[in-house]
Amino acid sequence: MSKVLYQADLDLSPVRERTVAIIGYGNHGRSHALNLRDMGVEQILVALREGSASRETARTDGFEVVSIADAARQADILALMAADEVHGEIWREHLLPHCRAGQVLILAHGFSIDYGVVDPPADIDVVLAAPKGPGGAVRSSFERGGSLIGFWAVHQDASGQAEAIATAYLGGLGCGRAGIYPTSFKEEALADILGEQAVLVGGICALAREGYEQLVASGINPIMAYIDTVHELKYITDLIHERGIAGMYAAISDTAEFGAHEVEDSIRTAVRPVFEAIIRDVTAGDFARRWVTDYERGRKHLYAMRAKATAHPLERTGRLIRSADARRKEPLAWL
Ligand SMILES: NC(=O)c1ccc[n+]([C@@H]2O[C@H](COP(=O)([O-])OP(=O)(O)OC[C@H]3O[C@@H](n4cnc5c(N)ncnc54)[C@H](OP(=O)(O)O)[C@@H]3O)[C@@H](O)[C@H]2O)c1
Repeated sequence: MSKVLYQADLDLSPVRERTVAIIGYGNHGRSHALNLRDMGVEQILVALREGSASRETARTDGFEVVSIADAARQADILALMAADEVHGEIWREHLLPHCRAGQVLILAHGFSIDYGVVDPPADIDVVLAAPKGPGGAVRSSFERGGSLIGFWAVHQDASGQAEAIATAYLGGLGCGRAGIYPTSFKEEALADILGEQAVLVGGICALAREGYEQLVASGINPIMAYIDTVHELKYITDLIHERGIAGMYAAISDTAEFGAHEVEDSIRTAVRPVFEAIIRDVTAGDFARRWVTDYERGRKHLYAMRAKATAHPLERTGRLIRSADARRKEPLAWL
């Protein structure tokens, strides 16, 4: 494995000596701005669209808020922390017309560069500085004295300093407390998207829904079905997070472990072609094209899929169970 950098290995001056514009003040943008300031970066601008609901939050947090075009004119480092689907529009309309040679574009996801959504001129540095995890955790782990693991990559190195800036930016987020690793835009984009589509979000939700529907169709009480296929996910993912998959297996009952080992192979065989199709779809850029096109058409497909998912009967069952949990103030795992 390539060299891992920790906080003591890092020189933060390439970022501390520059003006940093954080474009977007959502989950990542806000955490980045707060962590960078706490780590001694003094010149920070928060760049928001006109009428942004985040303007007040950024001002209350003590940051100067500017337009995105002004950020492109004033800052040395442009950290594009807006939602991925708007990167193309922000880049074409607000950044590209005002950016200049010698600036640095930082992204937190490989998406926009690897799939050609953003096409920067050759005279700027383009780097990836990706703390791996949700934006809120970038801040909450930092406040607890820890951090998320960070990954960096260089797409363009016009200044000869791109690597130093990418690693300094991650150091400014505190990621050197957990470790900073090299990657590529391609690797980060595929890993992130495959992970969320096939496993962490799409995969888990598909298995949970299928399990719930099969149990209810077999005449099982929906409350029981929900607890055994959805609600208890938390206990298992907490165990995996703390101890790994083998550690989770060691912690559960032998009955659960015996049955789970027996069916793992057949489930993997069934989903393998689906996973392979997802990898082809993502690698070819087809997923990125579909998502950006849907965004440009008013997110109609996203909203239709969201409405269908929200109307699923298991949501009502889940609300009942969560309200019982809240009344008891203890988990219902004993049911
Ligand atoms: N590598 C990883 O593991 C990882 C994990 C999570 C996220 N990320 C990346 O981090 C970046 C930010 O993600 P996030 O979760 O922080 O996003 P988010 O919370 O959804 O942030 C959205 C921000 O984008 C702004 N925005 C939305 N539409 C806009 C538009 N049309 N024009 C200008 N600004 C607009 C919003 O502005 P308003 O405040 O005005 O609404 C908001 O400030 C993304 O590139 C994402 O992929 C990476």
